[in-house]
Amino acid sequence: AFEVELKKSGEVVTVPEDRSILEALRDAGHATSSSCESGTCGTCKTRLLSGEADHRDMVLMEEEKGDHIMICVSRAKSGRLVLDL
Ligand code: FES
Repeated sequence: AFEVELKKSGEVVTVPEDRSILEALRDAGHATSSSCESGTCGTCKTRLLSGEADHRDMVLMEEEKGDHIMICVSRAKSGRLVLDL
């Protein structure tokens, strides 16, 4: 598991191994936009403020990978991600 911090509220949500970031946010009561939920459509693109993402989508350009994450499929390499949510 790893954690995501929501910058705007300071809330920290734990993402278990068997849940996506998107699902964990929904479980915590946050409405999040999504469509394909398989890393191909781009709807769930979220700004990544800090932390190292384990990108598993098919959408992001190389130059976007440092500061964006597709939260339906991608995860953290370790520790905590800070999202602009
Ligand atoms: Fe389509 Fe995440 S919901 S890429």
